[in-house]
Amino acid sequence: MCAIEVTPVIATERLILRGPVPADVDPIAKLAGDLNVAGQTVSMPHPYSDADAQAHVDRAMRLDWAREAAFAIEHRNFGVVGMVGFKPAPTGRPELGYWIGRPYWNRGYATEAVRGALKWVKRDWRKRLVVAGHFADNPASGQVLCKAGFLYTGEVALKPSKARGRAVPTRMMVWLA
Ligand SMILES: CC(C)(COP(=O)(O)OP(=O)(O)OC[C@H]1O[C@@H](n2cnc3c(N)ncnc32)[C@H](O)[C@@H]1OP(=O)(O)O)[C@@H](O)C(=O)NCCC(=O)NCCS
Repeated sequence: MCAIEVTPVIATERLILRGPVPADVDPIAKLAGDLNVAGQTVSMPHPYSDADAQAHVDRAMRLDWAREAAFAIEHRNFGVVGMVGFKPAPTGRPELGYWIGRPYWNRGYATEAVRGALKWVKRDWRKRLVVAGHFADNPASGQVLCKAGFLYTGEVALKPSKARGRAVPTRMMVWLA
């Protein structure tokens, strides 16, 4: 018997969120190579090589979707514009992470993708609580999270930024389904 694994697909007005595939390596490497992108995340290195993108996609294609989720954000006209996903935080709660390539900033794509992903979290993934944090010097991300329904917990944690090579004050937030 053979089992066919089907990863979830989320359609929003302008975007398709779907499991990453090998063809995503090139656009991810190009867009994630910008320090303005990687430097606002905990885990993306800088410089961000083709091998980093390859390893990221390989890992995303082998995810245990009961614990984690990773979606490429594909614009219906422009192709891959970023990524969004959920990983277990140290507390075990799902933690949201996302990025949009710089050429596509300020068009509402992050907000649209996060809102779409949260609908899936509630309806299909059946999780009731998601945590997130944004570096204190990244108000645009705070704006995205507020618009998607996250609230500030008041906690400011020091989180490492791989690309910056140091810890950065991070404003923690929570979303309830
Ligand atoms: C943060 C990020 C995801 C936003 O993506 P985006 O597609 O541009 O986001 P949206 O267009 O949906 O929303 C951006 C909001 O931030 C606001 N904004 C942009 N720059 C801002 C700034 N310097 N200060 C305050 N708000 C700002 C925009 O006005 C918009 O809000 P509005 O719709 O209420 O006007 C994108 O900049 C990014 O990927 N950055 C690098 C990686 C990252 O930060 N990931 C998140 C880690 S927590």
